[in-house]
Formats: sequence, structure tokens, C-alpha cells
Amino acid sequence: MHAIAVTEGGGDPVLIEKPRPEPAAGEALVRTLRVGVDGTDHEVIAGTHGGFPDGEDHLVLGHEAVGVVVEPNGTDLEEGDVVVPTVRRAPNGGNEFFARGEPDMAPEGQYHERGIVGDHGFMAEYFTSPAECLVEIPPELAEWGFLVEPISITEKAVEHAFASRSAFAWDPESALVLGNGSLGLLTVAALDDRFDRLYCLGRRYRPDPTIDIIESLGATYVNSEETAVPEVPEVHEAPDFVYEATGYAPHAFETIEALAPNGVGALLGVPSDWEFEVDGGALHREFVLHNKALVGSVNSGVGHFEAAADSLAAMEESFLDDLVTGVHGLDDFAPAFADDDTTIKTAVEFASYEER
Ligand code: NAP
Ligand code: BGC
Ligand code: ZN
Repeated sequence: MHAIAVTEGGGDPVLIEKPRPEPAAGEALVRTLRVGVDGTDHEVIAGTHGGFPDGEDHLVLGHEAVGVVVEPNGTDLEEGDVVVPTVRRAPNGGNEFFARGEPDMAPEGQYHERGIVGDHGFMAEYFTSPAECLVEIPPELAEWGFLVEPISITEKAVEHAFASRSAFAWDPESALVLGNGSLGLLTVAALDDRFDRLYCLGRRYRPDPTIDIIESLGATYVNSEETAVPEVPEVHEAPDFVYEATGYAPHAFETIEALAPNGVGALLGVPSDWEFEVDGGALHREFVLHNKALVGSVNSGVGHFEAAADSLAAMEESFLDDLVTGVHGLDDFAPAFADDDTTIKTAVEFASYEER
């Protein structure tokens, strides 16, 4: 079968041939429909995040997949089920985090991430997966199912952030999403019915398709070149919730300044090492005297995938059409990995739902 991988020498993703995998006991065989591309894939391709499986000279890419079960192999799944795989798998026979059903809470070294670190991804015509790592979604969502994984990232982060505010009467009205990449834009859409006022920050000038999307969702665009994060309270308002999806490390600290009293920020970005100066005393004081919180959040579990499927079902088709700027077949998949201002969200298509 065909697969898309990065190889030892680095460089652009390439098409390779691999044997079709055989499902082991407890695993199903899935025919891949589509696999999305996000900022993490670009980091993996650049070699700044993740790593190859032990002893291998390549890594099959892809962690945002949707597929159709073709061989249930004695599991509870049925042939034809449309499924989205979770990303983490247990190395060396498992550990307490996987046993509890909380693989997203496992520390580094105690997980592999398919298509990212230690385990091949889903950018292949077929993949196998333990049945408990496959989340069934309605067939109507098959076309957009590759968006369930990134939305699940937001479901987890919001759950953790809100949980940190559960000890008192918190009634958040406004949210600021930092980043107008695919994760930021999906988050604006997912937060739409949870906040009265939404802001989304990028560093682009008009005309720009991401600004159009932000405004079509009824959110206010903030250009960080004109209004830096700490200035948002003066120019707009102090947000009750900040969702950082830029990977721009100063934003973690600027979030503390920008938040409204009693607010919470969720940090999602994965920056490289980066040293810069901050006024630690002022930030510490701000944290304490205004009861603020920051949560870091990575990955997601089955419950977050289920919530994400519901959020996806509620998203307007016109938003999804604008967000997904390209779905590319295997004969011309390179544009799926383009990194320019007209490419927002892309996917590689291995099979359409009709030809499953
Ligand atoms: P992305 O497509 O690279 O998006 C990042 C966006 O942030 C880009 O649109 C970029 O603008 C914008 N940006 C960067 N620096 C900025 C600045 N100083 N001011 C304003 N805007 C800025 O990546 P993504 O897929 O949306 O993911 C976002 C981040 O979340 C990445 O760091 C990724 O690694 C991380 N992530 C984490 C998880 C998790 O589980 N924690 C999951 C998925 C992704 P331009 O396009 O104009 O450069
Ligand atoms: C993926 C997560 C993963 C994280 C860190 C994200 O892009 O969506 O599943 O845990 O990267 O590798
Ligand atoms: Zn991702």
C-alpha cells in the first residue's frame, strides 16, 4: 500500500510503499479516508518535534485521521463503521495512564503518538488500531471527520481550564484565541456558543482569508502588530479566557497580563527553547492578587473525541468549506504540506467515503 512518510535525510514528505498491516487480536483494520495536516506535522517534518519509531529509518506521518472499518476482526466494531483514531499508544505493554483511560495525561516517555513520536501515523491506505482507540462518528461526518482530532484538543483544554474555575461562581463572557492557524480557527468556531464575545489574534493584515473566517464567525480580529496581547484589555476588553495556539512563547506570559481577574488561560503551543526577559514579580503578583490560572494542555482522550464529534456536527458547512482550503489526492499530495498565507487547513485523501 502507499503511505506518506518523512525519511532519515529529512526534507519534504515522500510517497513510500509498505505492506498492508494485519490486525492483531483486539485490533480492527481501517481503510483510511482522509488525514489532516496541522502545525505539529510541520514541526515533525522540520525535525523540531517528535521522532521515528525505534530502529526505523522513516516515520509515516498523520495523526488526524478518519477511516472506515473494513475488518472488525472480532472486536465490537462493524464493517462500514466510520471511525476516528485517538493518537497515543502505550509503549512497552502499557502503564497506569493508559489503564485509567487517560493516555493524554501520561508524561513524556510513557506514550507514543502515532505520526508524531515513536509510532507510525495514519497517512497510509490502511491502518490498524486497538478497537478502544477508535471513536465511531456518524457517517454524515465522514467528509470532515479528520477535524475531530484537532477539535478534541480544544475540548480537553476547555474542560481543564473550566475545571480550574469550578471552585467559585465563574460566569465567563469573553474569550481571546491567540493564533489564526487551523487550531485557532477551529477553536473560535467551537467556542462560539460558550462565550458572548470572542476575539482572535493573528499577525496578518487584510485582505487575508483567516481574517474573513474570524469575522464570518462573528468574532473580532486583533492584529498583534497593532495591538499586542497585553494591550487587548485597553483596546477591547480583558478576556475571561485565553486560548493560546500560536506557539509564540512570550504569549504564555502576556496571557497572565491580559486576563480579566479570576480568568484562566490554556496554553497549547509547543515552542522550541527560547530565552527572553519577563517581569517575574509583576506576573507573580498579578496571578495571586487576581486569582488567575494557567493550564497547559496536550493531546486528548476518547471522551474529548466524542465531544469533538458533537462540536463538529454543530459547525456551519460554510465555515468548514472556508477553513479547508485543499483536499489532495495521492497523485498530487505536496500542496497538502504547503505553508503559505492562502493555505489554512488541508487533508490528504486516500479514498472517498463513496469508494470505501
Ligand atoms: P499553525 O497553523 O502554525 O498556527 C499558528 C498560528 O499562530 C499561525 O497562523 C501564525 O500566524 C500565528 N502566530 C504565530 N506567532 C504569532 C504572533 N507572534 N502573533 C500573532 N500570531 C502568531 O499551527 P496550528 O496547527 O494551528 O497549531 C497551533 C499551535 O498549537 C502549534 O504550536 C502546535 O504545535 C500546537 N498544537 C498543540 C496541540 C496540543 O495538544 N497541545 C495540538 C495541536 C497543535 P502566521 O500564519 O501569520 O505565521
Ligand atoms: C496533536 C496531539 C499531540 C500534540 C503533541 C498535536 O498536534 O494533535 O495529539 O499530543 O500534537 O505532540
Ligand atoms: Zn495535531
